[in-house]
Amino acid sequence: EDMAFFSRHLLEWYHEQKRDLPWRRSRDPYHIWVSEIMLQQTRVDTVIPYFNRFIGKFPTIESLADAPEEEVLKCWEGLGYYSRARNLQHAARQVKEAYGGKVPDDREAVFALKGVGPYTAGAILSIAFNRPEPAVDGNVMRVLSRFFLIEDDIAKARTRVRMEALAKALIPAGEASHFNQALMEHGALVCTPKSPRCLVCPVMERCAGRLAGRETSLPVKTKA
Ligand code: ADE
Repeated sequence: EDMAFFSRHLLEWYHEQKRDLPWRRSRDPYHIWVSEIMLQQTRVDTVIPYFNRFIGKFPTIESLADAPEEEVLKCWEGLGYYSRARNLQHAARQVKEAYGGKVPDDREAVFALKGVGPYTAGAILSIAFNRPEPAVDGNVMRVLSRFFLIEDDIAKARTRVRMEALAKALIPAGEASHFNQALMEHGALVCTPKSPRCLVCPVMERCAGRLAGRETSLPVKTKA
């Protein structure tokens, strides 16, 4: 049915079209974590050189935990939202103290790290550990609201909860890492906010939003 169609075609598309990004060459949970924190408020093209420099300077959690804060902030200079860097170092110290420097692979523990919310926790667990956890951000909500014609207000907490349940149910067995990245990549490259590239979309023929002529008016969002 539509869910299996969506997941299968999205995954196939990702294998053919995914960008070669530096954090995709790594399975180190710490590298995935740094990339997700940087990508929260910053575009991929901007993040790439910062990511490479940051990992070059602080290749392990322990090296980040042990660094003087001003060196971490210097490495973050120009990226903005500096609390992200402070929180990341705080969390690295948490991981060093509590888990011997290894990122834990369970939801409660990851979620308890400073600066890690539901999206980032899901991204780390799925991308690095291939655990079947949803990683729902604004891009993913846009893709799902269009394909499944979901008109709920994405500013509402219960909509996110519904989207997380749907996103989790869509993960093909054993494919959490690739599938969640496929969703993100599709939102970034094809199902974009203003001018979605429906003609090259791997799931266009069954996209309920497109079939209803609603692709550019979804998702519904009330407050800013
Ligand atoms: N945006 C958020 N996470 C991402 C990822 N892992 N790859 C590309 N874009 C992203």
